[in-house]
Amino acid sequence: MKKQFITLLLLAPLLLSCTESEQQRRQFLHNNIAFAAAQVKRALAAIDSTGKVLNPVTLKDDGSVYYCGYSDWRSGFFPGSLWYLYELTGDTAFLARARRHTQAIEQAKALTWHHDVGFMVGCSFGNGLRLTGDTAYARVVVQAARSLSTRFRPAAGTIQSWDVTRGWQSERGWKCPVIVDNLMNLELLFEATRLSGDSTFYRIAVSHADRTLKEQFRPDGSCYHVVDYDPATGEVRSRQTAQGYADESVWSRGQAWAIYGYTVCYRETGNPAYLAQAIRTFEFMKNHPRMPADLIPYWDMSAPHIPNELRDVSTAACIASALYELCTLHIPQAEAYRTYADRIMASLASPAYRAALGSNGNFLLMHSVGSIPHGGEVDKPLNYADYYFIEALKRAKDPI
Ligand code: GLY
Repeated sequence: MKKQFITLLLLAPLLLSCTESEQQRRQFLHNNIAFAAAQVKRALAAIDSTGKVLNPVTLKDDGSVYYCGYSDWRSGFFPGSLWYLYELTGDTAFLARARRHTQAIEQAKALTWHHDVGFMVGCSFGNGLRLTGDTAYARVVVQAARSLSTRFRPAAGTIQSWDVTRGWQSERGWKCPVIVDNLMNLELLFEATRLSGDSTFYRIAVSHADRTLKEQFRPDGSCYHVVDYDPATGEVRSRQTAQGYADESVWSRGQAWAIYGYTVCYRETGNPAYLAQAIRTFEFMKNHPRMPADLIPYWDMSAPHIPNELRDVSTAACIASALYELCTLHIPQAEAYRTYADRIMASLASPAYRAALGSNGNFLLMHSVGSIPHGGEVDKPLNYADYYFIEALKRAKDPI
């Protein structure tokens, strides 16, 4: 008894400091959730003043907010943020708004001319379904999966990302471009099989994940942005970039999509090869000699003027969210990965990256990069950076 008492006495400072740091962690999450809720309420008030149901994406060069239509690949992120804020705060004002902004992009379910319906419908209707069980949302998810499946190219075993008959994509000589981002659309297919019982969606997702695993990665664990296939023979025609600095460079957001995407694929299938790839790509980024001390990656880790290159906050937010899920998957690195994610979140929540209330067009985070080669959203807020930041807050608060 005496011995136990002495042990307790000796451990007391340690226990006390654990409790203290747990309290700090809770306070950090509480403060950031409160900030996110307040900032998004301002964004909603600005939308209300127009009398329309607008969908904020980023800031234009003149400082005004750019709002998108349903067919923009980023149309699901703002509705998705509203669902997460409802979940995090219990404030039913967010529920009503989440429903309205989700409904406003329903047409996305029939979109077949690009691959991003997974982002669009998954973040909006998918989260709505998760939180309300609304069967109408389930129907939208399944229809969107059907639309996405029309882009499956059996010879290549992959889903074609972009059409090559329109826009700048038509100028690259591609036949069936697949971008690493496409991994993010697979969650919708897994969900659609669960909802409909039709295993076609699951099989397409696995085929795409397997071929991407084989073709899109370098021996060091980093990934190419674009792999172009011959849709007739399934052969790889080239490995290139669209949004990175160079074909052989490390476009940071692509690495984030791969880490997040294969984490989801492992969760859905239990295939350890997917988990291994998520970890390999994350370790590559974590150990990259050019990773800044605050863990907010450069837009491309091979960009020529580092350290005088822009950071990409959207990459950091996506990696943090993926890590919070990764560390629930019974991996030996769980504690280290959680600590790494916490460090990213601390940086994102600092004044260097988190906007002041009422500034930044009412977006949460500053300093993301859309696409430098296309001159789009360079050093701007982006709704997907905000979405993954809020998702990461949720996952940090209530591990999945
Ligand atoms: N999926 C497009 C991007 O990451 O910019």
